[in-house]
Amino acid sequence: MAQFDLIVIGAGPGGYVCAIRAAQLGLKVAVAEGRETLGGTCLNVGCIPSKALLHATHSLHEAQENFEKMGLIGAKPKVDWKKMLAYKDDVIGQNTKGIEFLFKKNKVTWLKGWASIPEAGKVQVGDDTHEAKHIVIATGSEPASLPGVEIDEKVVVTSTGALALDKLPKKMVVIGGGVIGLEMGSVYARLGTEVTVVEYLDRLIPGNDAEVAKTFQRILKKQGMAFILGAAVQGVTVKRGKASVAYSLRKDDSEHTLETDCVLVATGRKPFTEGLGLDRLGVDLTKRGQIATDGHWATSVKGIYAIGDVIEGPMLAHKAEDEGMAVAEMLAGQAGHVNYGVIPGVIYTTPEVASVGETEESLKEAGRAYKLGKFSFMGNGRAKAVFQGEGFVKILADKETDRILGAHVIGPMAGDLIHEVCVAMEFGASAEDLARTCHAHPTFSEAMREAALACGDGAIHA
Ligand code: NAI
Repeated sequence: MAQFDLIVIGAGPGGYVCAIRAAQLGLKVAVAEGRETLGGTCLNVGCIPSKALLHATHSLHEAQENFEKMGLIGAKPKVDWKKMLAYKDDVIGQNTKGIEFLFKKNKVTWLKGWASIPEAGKVQVGDDTHEAKHIVIATGSEPASLPGVEIDEKVVVTSTGALALDKLPKKMVVIGGGVIGLEMGSVYARLGTEVTVVEYLDRLIPGNDAEVAKTFQRILKKQGMAFILGAAVQGVTVKRGKASVAYSLRKDDSEHTLETDCVLVATGRKPFTEGLGLDRLGVDLTKRGQIATDGHWATSVKGIYAIGDVIEGPMLAHKAEDEGMAVAEMLAGQAGHVNYGVIPGVIYTTPEVASVGETEESLKEAGRAYKLGKFSFMGNGRAKAVFQGEGFVKILADKETDRILGAHVIGPMAGDLIHEVCVAMEFGASAEDLARTCHAHPTFSEAMREAALACGDGAIHA
């Protein structure tokens, strides 16, 4: 029986970051992970592989749509799907091996196998039981199921199956117009698949700025994606390798079906806690099946903590990482902290969509007076040079104090641009602070400054 200061269960971004930080701070740390490779959903079947496919298909789109406009003439590239998947697998391998290297470097022990917690202070992996002063559960999430829809990961797939389809489907129906549906949908649309997104609500990407969502839908439509909004999926039937998706329109209850080669179910994820033995331990859950934690990520059982997708909050790798780091710091006697008001969200399509903080909708609901500064990428020289003038930046600031409350971007490199607002918000900056900060020309980031200027006396290039 080995003894550790900390055993983390799950080696996704929450778990591995927690383990590395705790080891750096002098704790003896192990991580239990049952997958063959480290990195969890994010590195194996989520963020990283999808970004590889998004990059590959974006490059294809550039070659097909924009090369000629720039005087780049020649044979247009053809798609070798198997090779594209091999490139994606290579990217996964490089990243998961990177975590293995970091574990060795920081002397974090990998307990290979699926773990359970027989009692507080003990973690069982296979036939071995290990002792730990502290246990952090970082077991992540899995795709939520949908009534009437059976996943086979061949014809009816989750994001996992969508990253490894045998061949390119001619038609794909995506159930759910959220992050996964639109990222993976746009990958396949760019590869020539006819993609139809069926979304329950009357809009895409709920929770995001409504104007961004509308612009996003218009741009994706131009890229060839079709949308059926306000539609409740009733069920999916599969016959001889083809699927039929039944849905009803919420406005008039009319019933419809779509015939397709592939169905991607992207209607959200749920916490993954199977096999841990939480019932037996008496770990409290929330009504939504998440592990309940206090403000310091402690569960109802002393010595057991939980972070990431298994607890409340957005299911985002970077939120889990921040929580992992904070718990490690706390366990090492430091003051760990996560600022939940400043967690960016990014959708890695082209254009990218990024947001942080309050939306106009949430401010209106809270009755808070705000100023709005908006700037179109059409006024940004760099964006126009790379065919990405569509989209805009919107900065929201308190009407009285000018303090930045949120930002929403749809446009080139939005996922990187958002971070200057994140830093500004961490420092409690005003829109004027951002507007007075010199931004290099010509960069996309000038659009951020212009939106900040628009909160005051006005943007220059509007
Ligand atoms: P999501 O919550 O982003 O979107 C699910 C969508 O499905 C919603 O628009 C919802 O209204 C719709 N929906 C639910 N039931 C439906 C039904 N019966 N028929 C039609 N539509 C229905 O969930 P998604 O896209 O599955 O992603 C899961 C999680 O993974 C999210 O928390 C997301 O933030 C995270 N993720 C984040 C990424 C990123 O940060 N770039 C990438 C991929 C996933």
